[in-house]
Amino acid sequence: MEIRVVRTKQPKVKPNDNELGFGQYFTDHMFVVDYKEGKGWYDARIVPYGPFEVEPSCMVFHYGQAIFEGMKAYLNKDGEAVAFRPFSNIKRLNRSAERLCIPQLDEELVWEGMKKLLELEKDWIPKTEGTSLYIRPFVIATDHHLGVRPSHTYKFFVILSPVGAYYKEGLQPVKIYVTDKYIRAAEGGVGFTKTAGNYAVSLYAAEEAKRKGYTQVLWLDAKENKYVEEVGTMNIFFKINGVLVTAPLDSGTILGGVTRDSVIELAKEMGYAVEERHLSIQEVYDAHEAGELEEVFGTGTAAVISPVGVLNWNDRIIEINEGRMGDVSQKLYDRITAIQYGKEEDKYGWIEKI
Ligand code: COI
Repeated sequence: MEIRVVRTKQPKVKPNDNELGFGQYFTDHMFVVDYKEGKGWYDARIVPYGPFEVEPSCMVFHYGQAIFEGMKAYLNKDGEAVAFRPFSNIKRLNRSAERLCIPQLDEELVWEGMKKLLELEKDWIPKTEGTSLYIRPFVIATDHHLGVRPSHTYKFFVILSPVGAYYKEGLQPVKIYVTDKYIRAAEGGVGFTKTAGNYAVSLYAAEEAKRKGYTQVLWLDAKENKYVEEVGTMNIFFKINGVLVTAPLDSGTILGGVTRDSVIELAKEMGYAVEERHLSIQEVYDAHEAGELEEVFGTGTAAVISPVGVLNWNDRIIEINEGRMGDVSQKLYDRITAIQYGKEEDKYGWIEKI
């Protein structure tokens, strides 16, 4: 499919790298494709970033039929624009689409559009270490209709946002509140998808945790309120007695993170034992009691690797590694960012040149 391009007549002033934060600024253009039942995806275009019109009855506002992805583009040491594992995210977008009754996207078209958009916006990729251009593809249901059924029309967008660290803490350890009062996802539900509703349901617990001085919530399994699953915007790893443990994906309640997957591969190659298994929060606390809980860290596209310094489970507060980033977390952060910024050879085929 041809991708037409309409350039903006009013390019924006770009922000300084030191004021980026996360998701506050948007580039000059966006990629858009429409869908209509019987016609398929059509009219792929790159147009100026900006508002578009739908009616108040637009289905996505009412029933939340919406999916999204998060990935990043970097400038490598030779000044080339590269993306990290984009096809893993595009495939996940289609897994989310299937579960949410959204038509499958053409992976090649998504990548071609994204590449063309990134080429056009290359100057928006920030240059400072720790910054990148966040890529946010998403699909929304656009029928103007109030009956509960899958929409017959959709819009696919890719928008871009120059970003720095996701958390204000940067690489300083975050404090995590373990909730056994609220749940994020149950078996048979949509926990494995990146659908807007998963984030909407997380807000109440996250706000409660924030009021208590915590950055994020650690969710336990919905059935027994016992096993650690994931943090609001990250997967989570525990280093116990030398072994890295993270929740398995088999229950369908956890997002299969691309950074999670990359970390597992890198850690194994670096000689660490990695176990994807059910881990109870009690086991985490017992390990701490025994002096065997060495590190805790989250992984995610937005967060990269974020050390966890404090856990609070029912007001039992424990400090991990004296509140400092652990050696393995640091090594994994260094490796993954070295690959992303092209300082280390990409022997995994994770880097796609734009
Ligand atoms: C990501 O890590 O890309 C995410 O989607 C997390 C969040 C900002 C929703």
